[in-house]
Amino acid sequence: MKLKTIYRCQQCGQASPKWAGQCAGCGGWNTYVEEAEEVLTKAAAKARGLTDFSEPPVKLSEARAMKAEHVSTGIAELDRALGGGLVKGQVVLLAGPPGIGKSTLTLETCAALAVGAYASGKVLYVSGEESLAQVGSRAERLGARAENVYLMSEANLARIIEEFRRLKPAFLVIDSIQTVYHPDFVGSPGSVGQIRECASELLKTVKASGAALFLLGHVTKEGSLAGPKVLEHIVDTVLYFDAEKNNVFRVLRPHKNRFGSVDETGIFEMTSKGLRSVEDAGLMLADAGRDRTIAGRAFSVAFEGARPMLAEIQALAARSYLPYPRRTVTGFDLNRAQMLIAALEKNIGLRFDEMDVFASLQGGIRMKDPALDLAFCAALISSVKDIPLPPDCVFMGEVGILAQVSSPGFLDRRLAEAERLGFRTAFVPWMAGKDEKRLKTLRVEAVRDTGGLYAAMTKLNTAAAAGAKKNKENS
Ligand SMILES: Nc1ncnc2c1ncn2[C@@H]1O[C@H](COP(=O)(O)OP(=O)(O)O)[C@@H](O)[C@H]1O
Ligand SMILES: [Mg+2]
Repeated sequence: MKLKTIYRCQQCGQASPKWAGQCAGCGGWNTYVEEAEEVLTKAAAKARGLTDFSEPPVKLSEARAMKAEHVSTGIAELDRALGGGLVKGQVVLLAGPPGIGKSTLTLETCAALAVGAYASGKVLYVSGEESLAQVGSRAERLGARAENVYLMSEANLARIIEEFRRLKPAFLVIDSIQTVYHPDFVGSPGSVGQIRECASELLKTVKASGAALFLLGHVTKEGSLAGPKVLEHIVDTVLYFDAEKNNVFRVLRPHKNRFGSVDETGIFEMTSKGLRSVEDAGLMLADAGRDRTIAGRAFSVAFEGARPMLAEIQALAARSYLPYPRRTVTGFDLNRAQMLIAALEKNIGLRFDEMDVFASLQGGIRMKDPALDLAFCAALISSVKDIPLPPDCVFMGEVGILAQVSSPGFLDRRLAEAERLGFRTAFVPWMAGKDEKRLKTLRVEAVRDTGGLYAAMTKLNTAAAAGAKKNKENS
């Protein structure tokens, strides 16, 4: 075995023979770290058993189907995010910012599995971050005291694998992949090289035994899966655990799943007794003060990276006192906003020539998702025409120069997420009608262009006014 050093970007995994200030792959600054790279000779590769998995080719028609039988983890919202439950031998990467509740969720899962699906097996929870006393006190607080859950505080991968082979658990948790290290591999724990080596070694061991594996990973402040990003393609399932902005709720979103759909998200509430599954997500909207009917505000479900998330756009059109009216937008593209304003002017005859337009995407984030176009138009029409928008309406669609509304992609995932979040009416492009059957509580209102949007909003308004009048008469 020969050793050679290379420089590897800690953000995207790009390798370079020389150090550089800026990564050529992702453009990050100061991200290259020196790493030793093993160059395996053929003999060494053979000695390592790299051909363990290989089997002779078989005909596709004769290939035995692997039965992906889902077993319940005992935690309803986790099952939902996993697409129905856990599969034997499944490797899951659970990623999220520090303090979001990854350790809490997995410890609860261990306890639930140990009395549920894996009651006849063993569960091993390895923490490289906390002492046994710390994990123990958390387990006590959560009321997780199952007999066949084993705890281990260890960061050395060789020791972990040794114990895994001895104990033969049906479920293994590594908390977190950034803290474990491969003793044969140079590089500090948490570096891209270590993460990759440790994960592939764990994967080999676990896949051979049929046990399920949870790898926990921290994401960086910027929200990217720094080190663990390199794992996305080798694991079966990637789940992101995240908090809704200034909200008590935590959302578990699948990003990739080899054993199920990635349409469903899991919603939890952090309580002193641990994470509670929230089954009625309508609560979530009510909680954030999103339950009032206001003019100038529209919701959308936007994709941030690979994750669908709730977005709120607020718009204000007010009389201008300047020779050149102002167009101020925060959180999304100004050029796009100007194009949409022009399209609204042309298509439905709204006048903005003497109006300042302010619009903002709430939450201090920036998004480029074209699905926000329709929400922007709705918020703006709502502000100009003083049409209050009910809080259970959601707008998803890309608006073109000719004011036509088209599908933004992933429309069914967006609709599923909107339904999950408790919305009742979704304004989407016309062609989306075919997906309606899958929805239970969400009604789809198809719009072809901004004119159609305006008409639908007016209809909504008259219906609401009639409802309010009726209520008044009755009382
Ligand atoms: N005694 C407690 N009562 C209520 N919530 C707690 C308590 N201790 C910790 N928490 C919650 O648990 C979170 C930490 O969860 P943890 O699973 O350790 O996160 P992670 O593993 O993702 O870093 C804290 O942010 C806090 O919200
Ligand atoms: Mg933790």
